[in-house]
Amino acid sequence: MPQLYYLPDDRHVEIEETDTILTSSLYAGIPHAHVCGGSARCSTCRVWILDGLEHCTPRNDAEAVLARRLCFEPTMRLACQTQVVGEGQVTVRRLVVDAEDMSLVEQQMAGQRNAIGEEQSLAVLFADLRGFTPFSEALPAYDVIYVLNRYFSRMGQIIERYGGIINNYMGDGLMALFGWNHPDRPAERAVRAALEMQAAMASFNAYLEMLYHRPLQIGIGIHYGSAVVGAVGASPQSQQITAIGDAVNLASRIEAANKVTGTNLLVSEVVYEMVRSLVTVSQPYRVAIPGKSGEYLLYEVTDIAPEEPGAIAPLTVPLPVAPLPLRLRLFRWLKHWLGKR
Ligand code: FES
Repeated sequence: MPQLYYLPDDRHVEIEETDTILTSSLYAGIPHAHVCGGSARCSTCRVWILDGLEHCTPRNDAEAVLARRLCFEPTMRLACQTQVVGEGQVTVRRLVVDAEDMSLVEQQMAGQRNAIGEEQSLAVLFADLRGFTPFSEALPAYDVIYVLNRYFSRMGQIIERYGGIINNYMGDGLMALFGWNHPDRPAERAVRAALEMQAAMASFNAYLEMLYHRPLQIGIGIHYGSAVVGAVGASPQSQQITAIGDAVNLASRIEAANKVTGTNLLVSEVVYEMVRSLVTVSQPYRVAIPGKSGEYLLYEVTDIAPEEPGAIAPLTVPLPVAPLPLRLRLFRWLKHWLGKR
């Protein structure tokens, strides 16, 4: 008779081939959550198959629907739908063991994709403002936040236009993901966005020069690799998509390497290989990355071939332009403000 080994319960239980894992748990007195009563609607009976997946019955239609909706990995199964066949042993870990787990599952059921977390290949872009600390120390708090918001808004529009999302702000830095919701050519999208961000920085600097006589520089690093992507946050309202993994760490380090190489936009070798037919690079740099062994080959991208019409997500939302009366009022206010300086 097949056997089940339960974690965290540390219990061995024999299971009839006609029983589901959930039924066996309940017969054995294992407190196994099953809010919907075993009809593949709540996912609270979910187990992680740590060993012996080959002895489990394949997903039935009902389980497949829920698994797709919640982006379950193949090893995450509904105990109420899964049977064990043959003579093998299957090791399972119950995943909903207390009220907090239950509440997280409820949030996931109310949410959308990536509620569980999945491994994905993404282009990760880090951008950081150079010289922002002395800039912020010289300005009143109001201006610091105003400038930052204006900068993030402008960069966010560019990132979104290329199908990316900003998923993290770190002081004056930001992290953006390409490929999470737009799997088509994520590396190219990230590089195009980065070059446009740099171009936008030139006009942003004209504004900073006029108001504060202090331009800023932007440093950008891009890497492509796999990361675990999922929604995190204390409540569904505060949840946001985040990515964790080596690809993210490396992208962050590549951005920081701009300070060593004196460049503004560095990409990893893997990104370069993905876009090499499109981009112009200055020269490769061999850079030691903190926390990593050996040296990494990084490329400074200076230009990219124009995109074919319609090839990349077009600008669907025009950049907001203030209506004329408002622009006139702003202009008068600016003149007045500058006259007082
Ligand atoms: S008990 Fe609800 S999905 Fe299994």
